[in-house]
Amino acid sequence: DVKSMAEHFEDYFPIGAAVEPFQVEGEPGAVLEHHYNSVVAENAMKPVSLQPEEGEWDWEGADQIVEFARANDMELRFHTLLWHNQVPDWFFLDEDGNPMVDEEDEEKREANKELLLERLDTHIKTVVERYKDDVDAWDVVNEVIDDGEPNERGLRESVWYQITGDEYIRTAFHAAREYAGEDALLFINDYNTEIEPKRTHLYNLVVELIEDGVPIDGVGHQSHIQLGWPTLEESRESFEMFADLGLENQVTELDVSIYGWPPSGEFKSEEEIPAEILEVQADRYEELFELYRDESLNITHVTFWGIGDNHTWLDDRAQEHSDDGEGKDAPFVFDTTYHVKPAYYAVMGFE
Ligand code: XIL
Repeated sequence: DVKSMAEHFEDYFPIGAAVEPFQVEGEPGAVLEHHYNSVVAENAMKPVSLQPEEGEWDWEGADQIVEFARANDMELRFHTLLWHNQVPDWFFLDEDGNPMVDEEDEEKREANKELLLERLDTHIKTVVERYKDDVDAWDVVNEVIDDGEPNERGLRESVWYQITGDEYIRTAFHAAREYAGEDALLFINDYNTEIEPKRTHLYNLVVELIEDGVPIDGVGHQSHIQLGWPTLEESRESFEMFADLGLENQVTELDVSIYGWPPSGEFKSEEEIPAEILEVQADRYEELFELYRDESLNITHVTFWGIGDNHTWLDDRAQEHSDDGEGKDAPFVFDTTYHVKPAYYAVMGFE
């Protein structure tokens, strides 16, 4: 039997995996039970999954994951109360069914804003009241910082932003605190948190919100990273910045792509991926987990964005960017048949 990752890191942090409901049984379910002590829904708890139409809730997939976590005494991260993707359109339609963003009349814009923030509050209230006893950490907002051509504050100019300014972020955290209670752990989650100027924009926003009394307990670092990017130093600095504010850091969506950006998708199957690349990946995992164990960085959780290489969103990205629409990535420590890779041994600290 292969030694359990979760047990190995018992004294440091829980080890989680993102899952679809169909993965909490059968072979992936068994791997989860053995190697992980935390789960998060890859898609099943996003707004479009839970409330596809206003007031029409679909709990089935989410409930399956919650029940699995309960039955196996695992932690549960909630992802995500708010995002600009995978949010149903009805959120942003006014009372007449027109897009709120198109409204030019000032008074109506104000009314729309109120309506949108009310819908957000209702969504959060309903979800939080259902799951609050099961959830250990909440991604309250996801990806609110822009890294394309950011405005001065670096705030993403999503529909949320266009209609409410930064108020949607404040409303989301206050609502989460109100309904989940004082003990709930509330996170602001984002990718490329290591990279300037995004990192500083995130930092400045968090400082501003905290000064204004907005309840934030920690920063979720998605950590969709590559073999040589970002540098370990950049990662360390980012964790340090937030730890120095007294916040928790959680690694929320870890995967280490074998490609650069954009992904070439040059390898079409697992068999085509050269062994040397998997060795480089192992070294990368080793340095990362060494960093994560540095107590001064206050890293309280590490979740992979999947279990084995047979199911990863990075395949979609490789296929999207490759010349022929095909391509295979291999970001995890377990291969497509859940066998250990060099990265597993690296993470476990022996080679
Ligand atoms: C991804 C899922 O993995 C895909 O299955 C889905 O099609 C799109 O979303 N950042 C996030 C996650 O916060 O929610 C995303 O998950 C990956 C990037």
